[in-house]
Amino acid sequence: MRVCVIGASGKLGKYIVRHCLDRGYDVVAVCRERSTAKLDDFKGRIRIVPGATNDREVIKEAVKGCEGVLTVLVPWGVQQYSTGTAQAVLDFAEPGARLVFSCGWHITRDGKDVYSRKLKMFVKVFGFVARLFRFADLDDQVEACRRIFESDTRWTVVRGSDLEEGESQGLPVWSRHVGDPILASNLTRRIDFALFMVEALTNDELIREAPAIVGRKSPSAIAYASEDRREQA
Ligand SMILES: NC(=O)c1ccc[n+]([C@@H]2O[C@H](COP(=O)([O-])OP(=O)(O)OC[C@H]3O[C@@H](n4cnc5c(N)ncnc54)[C@H](OP(=O)(O)O)[C@@H]3O)[C@@H](O)[C@H]2O)c1
Repeated sequence: MRVCVIGASGKLGKYIVRHCLDRGYDVVAVCRERSTAKLDDFKGRIRIVPGATNDREVIKEAVKGCEGVLTVLVPWGVQQYSTGTAQAVLDFAEPGARLVFSCGWHITRDGKDVYSRKLKMFVKVFGFVARLFRFADLDDQVEACRRIFESDTRWTVVRGSDLEEGESQGLPVWSRHVGDPILASNLTRRIDFALFMVEALTNDELIREAPAIVGRKSPSAIAYASEDRREQA
């Protein structure tokens, strides 16, 4: 399978590339020109299309012939970077391609997520400071995801909890709504966030879903699993 990884040079993107190569996929990577050196570890094993990820010509060229497109949506900058990136992917990906996007828990699909006071405060303060100093725009990620949710493509929006580094704990568990008890621990290894995105490419149950994920060895995931076993006994 040929896949395109958009935003490949970031921390999440590099893990995604590695998981794809482990599966024997052909990888086309898109990242800003100045960041191509961050992909040196993969030299000779991937094709890089350098450029801004909201540059429509760059995306058009990169997604050609790809059955899967994995996109890291980031709120950085105030030029509608995420929205431009998502729209270009929706417009130019091959018909029927699996499209998987990353974002955070703050994105809601149906408004039924229940957020902690801490998360609400973070979004409010970060959003305000980011807009004030013009280094990021959380509303841009919101608009990008709104367009994806409305699209009739074969998309999945993976909503990440707080992240940490470390060895893989396996495929994260997920739920449709933030606030569900299984997600209470709010922590996932970044390597496993990437794993979930790559697995989503071949999991049709996740088409047009916006799973909120948490580490499978996090206390809330373990508590939920044992409760489930007790109920089945
Ligand atoms: N960090 C968290 O705790 C957290 C929590 C939940 C969800 N998420 C989600 O996880 C994904 C990855 O987040 P991450 O924090 O781990 O970041 P990351 O993977 O390190 O990615 C950062 C990306 O942003 C790009 N970037 C940085 N500054 C930019 C700018 N000014 N203009 C355009 N692009 C810029 C980087 O490109 P270069 O390599 O070219 O610099 C890189 O591709 C995102 O979708 C995020 O919403 C993160």
